[in-house]
Amino acid sequence: MRARLDEMVNHSLHHGRAVPAFTCYDFTTATALVEAAEEMKHSIALLVAPRTASRPDGLRLISALRGLADEASVPVSIQLDHAKDLQVIHAAVRAGADAVLADGSTLDFETNIALVHAASDLVGPDVVLEAELGGLPGDEDKAFINQASGITDPGQVEEFVRRSGAHLLAVSVGNVHGHYKGRPEIRWDVMGLIAQQSQVPLVLHGASGIPRQDIARASSFNVGKINVNTELRTEILSTIVSSAGDHQMDGENLAGLLTDWSGAAKLFGSRMLAILTSDTDTSRETGGFRQSPVASILPN
Ligand code: 13P
Repeated sequence: MRARLDEMVNHSLHHGRAVPAFTCYDFTTATALVEAAEEMKHSIALLVAPRTASRPDGLRLISALRGLADEASVPVSIQLDHAKDLQVIHAAVRAGADAVLADGSTLDFETNIALVHAASDLVGPDVVLEAELGGLPGDEDKAFINQASGITDPGQVEEFVRRSGAHLLAVSVGNVHGHYKGRPEIRWDVMGLIAQQSQVPLVLHGASGIPRQDIARASSFNVGKINVNTELRTEILSTIVSSAGDHQMDGENLAGLLTDWSGAAKLFGSRMLAILTSDTDTSRETGGFRQSPVASILPN
């Protein structure tokens, strides 16, 4: 079902957990993740990377994800991730995205705020805006080894959130996209200071490689969304690499390969949801969300 991402996040935090957000490059993965969320009766977000959304087939994927989300029995949000280009933001929202990360983290403070305002003016109040303060190293689509850098300054947080009007705030606290160089050292002390200053829920990017116990406790620092991509890709790729030969020998059985692909994605999604919902009650998760009339508010 359609729901506003910020309301999903606030609702989930109220139950002591974060919403998992998974990057999707294809419909098979997305369907498997939604099935996992439906079985766990939990909301999820499906992320589309900006490189994907920059292509015509990527916009068609967003439209397909929109349909998938609307038909799901749990709240599902479709978010354009890490967008810097207003044209891509506009096209993605027209295609069906109901949330956008307007990512000005590599810009200076004022220009970052200006990007969030420009995105807001473009997409209107029914699209949920995440902003990012303090950049994360690493490529969003390819996993290489990265050293953490660029910690978010808690002293800037209150002003940034207030002036940008963002609904969610992504932060840099020792997290990276891709693989961590050495052990991940998440600065929970800084996260705590940021949480005290932020009027909106926080988002933890780069969840791949972060110990499970840290993922599970992030919501106690007002982290209401956790983004994961690399580990999901690892799970799917290792599954299809090991089974592709057998399916080829079995009469070029592409449907069989896709079943394995889907199974790997669903298992990964279920495991992540189990970590986030451990010791909490999932039975009330699907209730009470406002429908978000995103499609109807945009000009053709
Ligand atoms: P990872 O690829 O490190 O899991 O990061 C994903 C992410 O933060 C997407 O926004």
